[in-house]
Amino acid sequence: MADDDQKKKGLRSSEWFARQDSYGFIYRSWMKNQGHAQRMFDGRPVIGICNTWSDLTPCNGHLRGLAEHVKRGVYEAGGFPLEFPVTSLGEPVMRPTTMLFRNLASMDVEASIRANPMDGVVLLVGCDKTTPACLMGAASVGLPTIVVSGGPMLSGRWEGRQIGSGTDVIRFKEAVRAGTMSVEQFMAAEAAMSRSAGSCMTMGTASTMASLCEGLGVSLPDNGAIPAVDSRRQVLAFESGRRAVEMVRENLTLPKVLTRDAFHNAIVLNAALGGSTNAVVHLLALAGRLGVDLSLDDWDRWGRDVPCLVNLMPSGQYLMEDFYYAGGVPAVLNELRARLAAGQVTVTGRSIGEANDGAAIHDAKVIRTLAEPFKPLGGIAVLRGNLAPDGAVLKPSAASPGLLQHRGRAVVFKGPDDLKKRIDDPDLPVDADSVLVLQYCGPKGYPGMAEIGNLPIPPKLLRQGVTDMVRISDARMSGTAYGTVVLHVAPEAAAGGPLALVRDGDWVELDVPGRRLHLDVPEAELERRRGELAAFVSPYERGWEKLYVEHVMQADKGVDLDFLVGSSGPYVDRTSH
Ligand code: FES
Repeated sequence: MADDDQKKKGLRSSEWFARQDSYGFIYRSWMKNQGHAQRMFDGRPVIGICNTWSDLTPCNGHLRGLAEHVKRGVYEAGGFPLEFPVTSLGEPVMRPTTMLFRNLASMDVEASIRANPMDGVVLLVGCDKTTPACLMGAASVGLPTIVVSGGPMLSGRWEGRQIGSGTDVIRFKEAVRAGTMSVEQFMAAEAAMSRSAGSCMTMGTASTMASLCEGLGVSLPDNGAIPAVDSRRQVLAFESGRRAVEMVRENLTLPKVLTRDAFHNAIVLNAALGGSTNAVVHLLALAGRLGVDLSLDDWDRWGRDVPCLVNLMPSGQYLMEDFYYAGGVPAVLNELRARLAAGQVTVTGRSIGEANDGAAIHDAKVIRTLAEPFKPLGGIAVLRGNLAPDGAVLKPSAASPGLLQHRGRAVVFKGPDDLKKRIDDPDLPVDADSVLVLQYCGPKGYPGMAEIGNLPIPPKLLRQGVTDMVRISDARMSGTAYGTVVLHVAPEAAAGGPLALVRDGDWVELDVPGRRLHLDVPEAELERRRGELAAFVSPYERGWEKLYVEHVMQADKGVDLDFLVGSSGPYVDRTSH
């Protein structure tokens, strides 16, 4: 339905609550059993609070409390808040990987919003996949929508130093494997790392997505970095509730905010933040829901000459708490202003340039300037070649400069089980120049494109002091991870991509400045191997996994399901009675 038609029609919720017939009786009467007064149904905007709270998503465990602050804001602005739960996705605990369920959760969000009487939506999100899942679902409906993230945990503190979520788990794991850290020390660090409510406090995927919500313009300023337990997070939730009501009155819908310019701004911001590679698939999928023309090449083009400005783990040293005190995302956006589509409207009702105008950098150790950046290479490098015809990605700011141009012999693992079985084998034929290749971990292959693309360094090399190697896979990696890691190779091995053709000892060439990923094997030999390749057979014969494997698209298309691309819009004409 066109926006003008929607305006003429009045509030969407009035189709439920303004009726004087038996339908209206039913819609209102049952809602009143929760103690709502009649004036709540008098034509005020109904704001759905879409909550991903779950005890099984520890990063979102505090969102029920935060929802109360959203409700206060909605009431104050004259709206009627109604909270509802949706599928939550807990990164630390779900098997085989949360990414298998991102699209499922998005369907839940879309269906819940479409089916129910609401005029605007507040998305309460936190842990990695909860942000893209909710945004994708809301985008396929298109109501006025605002994001409130749960915020990062306080900085981890252990033995007198800061430790960061995920990033230091990887360091500790490798220290234990190298014999330089005891298991007792390893266990003691657990509670020291996750010591408050909130999401990972490194610039991992959760912080990246929460910050990119500011770049996309779908949250209020400072959504990315205010710590979860800082009372200013509650104020942000309150103000977002207020703003959601105003957005309904202004008919400021999600498609008006999430334009191609908004994606441009988010990609520029991601480069400056040294943000997670996972943002690539999430933003591509989100754009697909909105009909915004966004490609992998846009990621390379828009982020290529943007330096990394923030010194945050995993690319740097500091944590999200430090980032907030240093000025947070508004300070970075203000510094980037000349590179942004600064006139793009945000949920504030103002442009992104106006909303962040004058935001200052308070600590130059944490946030640097364009004139003196933290690292010259931000952005996401998109690689192509005979090993990745449809593209692959690498995060230069987290890679070793000396490995950005590298030629080495492949050591191949045929999936996660093979990797686990052999990576610690002292007889593994590997040296520091080898290229570790992992197959069958893509969207269909794993299934769900797990975060195992930063393959562990073999222990015998760790003991030699090797801390990074070139690694290539069709998997993803955690946003908290680091290294010279080529990810998201498309097409994946399970879809018959050339990655499946790599054999031990093949020469592989990585040239990040040249954006090239090449398997140095004659085409005739590759053709011969292709003929020998057995078709991938999914072990899943029923349920969501079967539907997912049959319909999931490749990484360069955002790993969405083919039938979820696009929007259904907000209107459902039929009733249930
Ligand atoms: Fe939930 Fe990192 S595991 S935010």
